[in-house]
Amino acid sequence: MHRMNNNLTTDVQLAAQLLRDGKLVAFPTETVYGLGADARNPIAIKKVFAAKGRPADHPLIVHLGNHEQIAEWAIDIPPTAWALAKHFWPGPLTIVLSKHPSVSPLITGGQDTVALRIPNHHLTLELLKQFGSGLVGPSANKYGRVSPTMAEHVALDLGSEVAAILDGGPCQIGIESTIVYLSKNQPLIMRQGAITAQQIAEVLDTAVALKPQDNISVRTSGSHISHYAPRTPVYLLSTTELLASINSYQMHHKLCSVISFMPKPKNLSRDIYWQQISQEPVVYAQQLYANLRAHDLLNNAAILIEQVPDNLEWVAILDRLTRASFK
Ligand code: TXA
Ligand code: MG
Repeated sequence: MHRMNNNLTTDVQLAAQLLRDGKLVAFPTETVYGLGADARNPIAIKKVFAAKGRPADHPLIVHLGNHEQIAEWAIDIPPTAWALAKHFWPGPLTIVLSKHPSVSPLITGGQDTVALRIPNHHLTLELLKQFGSGLVGPSANKYGRVSPTMAEHVALDLGSEVAAILDGGPCQIGIESTIVYLSKNQPLIMRQGAITAQQIAEVLDTAVALKPQDNISVRTSGSHISHYAPRTPVYLLSTTELLASINSYQMHHKLCSVISFMPKPKNLSRDIYWQQISQEPVVYAQQLYANLRAHDLLNNAAILIEQVPDNLEWVAILDRLTRASFK
């Protein structure tokens, strides 16, 4: 059984000290909670992989406290990187650059690039300032599971693996940062997030490419298709399919729960947990992982999710739902 720990704290000084001691500290960001460790300490980095159960070849993002630190972690930094950092940091954008020779290969999974980001959360910005160096920070969940958007989620998943959880309340954005790879040619979006390809293209005044789903030449663990998945099977369905599926589950005396834009139909059994969800993508994203976790706890036969619109505003959400529902 998972143990609920009392290691939630808002004491930034304590958190910084624990990190200096090589311990793991979960930290809040505007996207999801990160599992923090000293990015210059190989033992601490190894603890991150062990705690998550993450394969060693899946690279980690290094979180920084200020722009000048970019040069401590990357080389051959193109002007586009500075422009994006200036425009979007602190914020939900991760920039992939050529790695500085001093960066541990444990962080980069042996690749010659490194992913950097300044997150936008006042507690974590203060933590990074006090710590004074980079922190690795994968999402603070077990490998392949739903990312945490509240300190309590981290406590449930990794409570016994971390020395402390810096409690910064619910994450404002709720899904992971956009990852952009600044190669010699055009910028490439490796993972969709709140910052869109269009926004990046506008700032850089250049075309931005989207990574094809199956391109694994540069590895991103979020790209593994069955990611962000609850234990209960998730199905992404059209409105018609959703209603038909509910009937089918009912006929076989099985319970499912539903996340839908519609109100619960009057004729449905009281036992079916039906959640009517916001049609605002920003609100939907903010609540998405907490909703998946809550539905998962019901231990029903399935979680049925009504298909979301297929447009720019929903693209990052659709990406996460597709991965959560992959069988
Ligand atoms: O919003 C976020 O990015 C959150 C918060 C905590 O900052 N972090 C996060 O970390 O989502 P994680 O480890 O769950 O996902 C990091 C992603 C992975 O898909 C990883 O493969 C990719 O970043 N990544 C890391 N280094 C990379 C690199 N050098 N090249 C390409 N992708 C990289
Ligand atoms: Mg993750």
